[in-house]
Amino acid sequence: RQAYDYMSWGVDGEFTMRRNREAFDWVGLVPRGLAGVGPVQAASNFLGMNLPFPILIAPTARHVMFHPGAEAATHAGATAASNTPFIVSNVASLPVEKIAAAATGPWWFQLYPQQGPDYNRQTLEKAQAAGCRAIVVTVDQQASVYERQTHGQNLATAESPMTAPATIGSPRPRANPYRVMEGRLWYEWTLLDELRRMAKVPLVVKGIVTGEDARLCLEHGVDAIYLSNHGGRSLDYGPSTLEVLPEIADAVQGRVPILFDGGIRRGSDILKALALGASAVSLGRVPLWGLAAYGAQGVQKVLEILQAELVQAMAANGRPTLASIDRTLVRTEFL
Ligand code: LAC
Repeated sequence: RQAYDYMSWGVDGEFTMRRNREAFDWVGLVPRGLAGVGPVQAASNFLGMNLPFPILIAPTARHVMFHPGAEAATHAGATAASNTPFIVSNVASLPVEKIAAAATGPWWFQLYPQQGPDYNRQTLEKAQAAGCRAIVVTVDQQASVYERQTHGQNLATAESPMTAPATIGSPRPRANPYRVMEGRLWYEWTLLDELRRMAKVPLVVKGIVTGEDARLCLEHGVDAIYLSNHGGRSLDYGPSTLEVLPEIADAVQGRVPILFDGGIRRGSDILKALALGASAVSLGRVPLWGLAAYGAQGVQKVLEILQAELVQAMAANGRPTLASIDRTLVRTEFL
């Protein structure tokens, strides 16, 4: 139950999490007839990497909660699904070397920066030595309280992957679990300049939801913008990511690629995000459902379903290549 709550949870009243999903309902598709579609081609180049489909696996924490194969199984499933890049979470259950060794496909590394002289440098050096192809730095979720999960923990008596103490011995008295964790309240823009110097691979900033912040990212030399509200886990009553995608695309003007997540459940959702300015999308909860049900094969299966649905949606809408997908494909009732 705790694993389910952790995966499905959104912050506070979960309005933004629902809104992420529901925003897709308000984007209509405007198909073109007699378009001579021919074979559909969904491959692209993203930060110098060949993407067979514009789909990645978003970073999510502690996969061992969902399957004993943990992130090794997720990576194997992603590689089996046409080398889908897997963004490994900073709070993965396995060391990066083990995850990297589990499959041959590309993987990226997500960082939650920590204050202090060495942690960020050492963590990024380790990930880069193990072969990560890009670094994603998460800048949202600075002051979120894990409410649903926290209620659950208060009730739980048994040990679980989420509550097991890190050290053997008598547990320390627990601080108020509803308090703001202070570990991320120091983030400011200069942090990106420091991380930029540590990264030998492309640096992607995750958690951007305004055009203004996207422009600041460009000023700080980031290689891609990752539009995300953390699956509705960061700030309730913030906008859905789909609603602000046109604003971000207008701010970025194609200078760097835009990675998008939030609420994607089928291929036509991906098509809508591409039409509104995303270069590629990533999936957080969706592959976790596959992992929890069937391990690596489940991850592979859900990715292949989404890949096939995207191709189907492109064909049905008369858009044979990613380059042919633009805003004329959609009607946005929410703007
Ligand atoms: C979460 C953090 C770990 O969303 O990113 O749970």
